[in-house]
Order: sequence, then structure tokens, then C-alpha cells
Amino acid sequence: MRDQAEQLRERLQRRAEGRPTRLITVTSGKGGVGKSNFTLNFALGLVEQGQKVVIFDADLGFANLDVLMGVSPKKNLLHLLEPDTSIWDIVEKGPNGLEFIAGGTGFTQIMQFDDEKLNRLFNQLEFLHGYADTVLFDTGAGISNESMRCILSADEVVLVTTPEPTSITDAYAVIKMIHSKNPQTSIRLIVNRASSVREGKFTADKLTLVAKRFLNLELTTLGFVPDDSYVSKAVKQQKPFFLSYPNSLAAKGIRDLVKTYIANAAEVSPSQETGGLRGFLAKMKQLIR
Ligand SMILES: Nc1ncnc2c1ncn2[C@@H]1O[C@H](COP(=O)(O)OP(=O)(O)OP(=O)(O)O)[C@@H](O)[C@H]1O
Ligand SMILES: [Mg+2]
Repeated sequence: MRDQAEQLRERLQRRAEGRPTRLITVTSGKGGVGKSNFTLNFALGLVEQGQKVVIFDADLGFANLDVLMGVSPKKNLLHLLEPDTSIWDIVEKGPNGLEFIAGGTGFTQIMQFDDEKLNRLFNQLEFLHGYADTVLFDTGAGISNESMRCILSADEVVLVTTPEPTSITDAYAVIKMIHSKNPQTSIRLIVNRASSVREGKFTADKLTLVAKRFLNLELTTLGFVPDDSYVSKAVKQQKPFFLSYPNSLAAKGIRDLVKTYIANAAEVSPSQETGGLRGFLAKMKQLIR
């Protein structure tokens, strides 16, 4: 096993090389549409492309990224309040060098924190700036207060929907809400569980059209993930489908999506101070206070 000091040195080295860390909030209107599976497998796709990725499990009460990976986190966000605990003690190891932070119930509790606790927490989270290429926030569904704070703090939101009409209308409600409060947010759409390319495209077109017509908003589609029985197989085995079934249609969908995401990276390039992870933390702090 590698020596802890060596690991810390590597981490500090990565930070010293520092580049702005992109922050993406993954959300949906309706629950159960596949956010957590998307987040995890998309993260692994980015890792495959050489990125350092940290996922933050902010889905309160239903935190289950750890279950999808078959890893049980030893620490969560709230441990940051203990003396001598740093961000590196709560970053858990997932497969292939992917790292994640378990939000636990910490996310609801931070609203009640005094300034000292809040500063301690946010100062530690800031250490991820320049360390990770991308931080993905997996939120709960819909318009709960906690999800909203994450969504409204992020400059990049990925919105997951399925082709079901209820999922589409709930997704539109989220788009409308983001647009009314933060019109400059980049919202990109993922259609998950599409039974064909045609259905995926049809779903994306529907949302794109209404967003254009009623909000005058240009919605971008990042891609489609097919409905694939290997996803639920992998969930039962507690292994990400991207790794256990790399040739499945779902894994191929993710791989294509990752390519599109990386090819368009320059479109949404966070500024060092106001965007990405750093901007996110600053905005989130304002929304809490
Ligand atoms: N592409 C897919 N093909 C087939 N089944 C899928 C696909 N994506 C997700 N599922 C199924 O949907 C279930 C729910 O997925 P997941 O937990 O990722 O949703 P979620 O949006 O994170 O839910 P919640 O809103 O509760 O956090 C999975 O356990 C799986 O069975
Ligand atoms: Mg989830």
C-alpha cells in the first residue's frame, strides 16, 4: 500500500499545477430517471480520457453513489468539522482512481451552521480547486431547497430526463426555474433510457422547441443513453456498467457523450475566480447566508 505522505505529496503537486476546476451539477425534474448512474458512469468516462474527477454525492437521505460502486464511505462531509480532519481525509476512493465525497446528511445541516463552521467547510472544499479537472455534483431530483442551491450556484447544469412525458414536463419546470433566476447558466440535456436514437432525438427536440418558443432559450443536448438491461444488472452487482459491461449500449452511449463533452469543453470554460468550482462555492455560501 502506498504511503499516505506520498499520496498527499501527489495531491499537492496536482494542485500546484492548478487549472480551473469545472463544476457540473447533475439534476432532473422527476426522480429515478438515472442521475446517479449517469453521474458515476460519465465520471468514469472522463477518467478514461485522463481526467481527475471527484463526485460529490449531494442527494440527501438517498445518497447512493457508494452503493452503486460497492464501496462504503468511512467519512462524510460532516467529518470536516472535526479537528485535524482535512478534505483529503473525506475523499473516498472509487474504481479506476475516481474519487468521491459522501455528502451524508451534512447537506441539510449546513444551513444551520454558524460562520465559523461554514468557513471551515468551504475552505476545505476549496482545496479541490485546481486538484480535480471536473467535480460532479449528483443532486436529488427537482426543486427541493438543497438541490436548488446547487443548481443556482453552478455555471454548468446537466439535466437528465427520460422520454416519459412526466419526466419531460418536470424537466421543463426545472429549466424554466433556472432560466428565471440565472439566465446565464449553461443547461445541457441528457436523454436517458431512450429506446432508440429516434426517440432520444424526439425527446430532446420537444424540450429544445418549448425552451426556444417560450423562454427564447437555446438548449444544448449533450447526448442520449439507451435503455439497456445491463444498467440494472450492474446496479444489482454494485459495479458501474461502464466498467463491468464496457461494450453495452449504455456504456457506448456514455463514451459518445464524453467525447462530445470534451470536444465542446472550450465553449464552457470556467474563469479562475468567478466560474467552475471556486465560483460555485462562493455562490453557494451566499445562498446559505
Ligand atoms: N439507461 C438505463 N437503462 C435501463 N435502466 C436504467 C438506465 N438508467 C437508469 N436505469 C434504472 O433506473 C434506476 C434508477 O437510476 P438512478 O438511481 O441512477 O436514478 P436517480 O435519478 O439517481 O434516482 P433518484 O432521483 O432517486 O436519485 C436504476 O437502478 C436502473 O435500474
Ligand atoms: Mg440518485
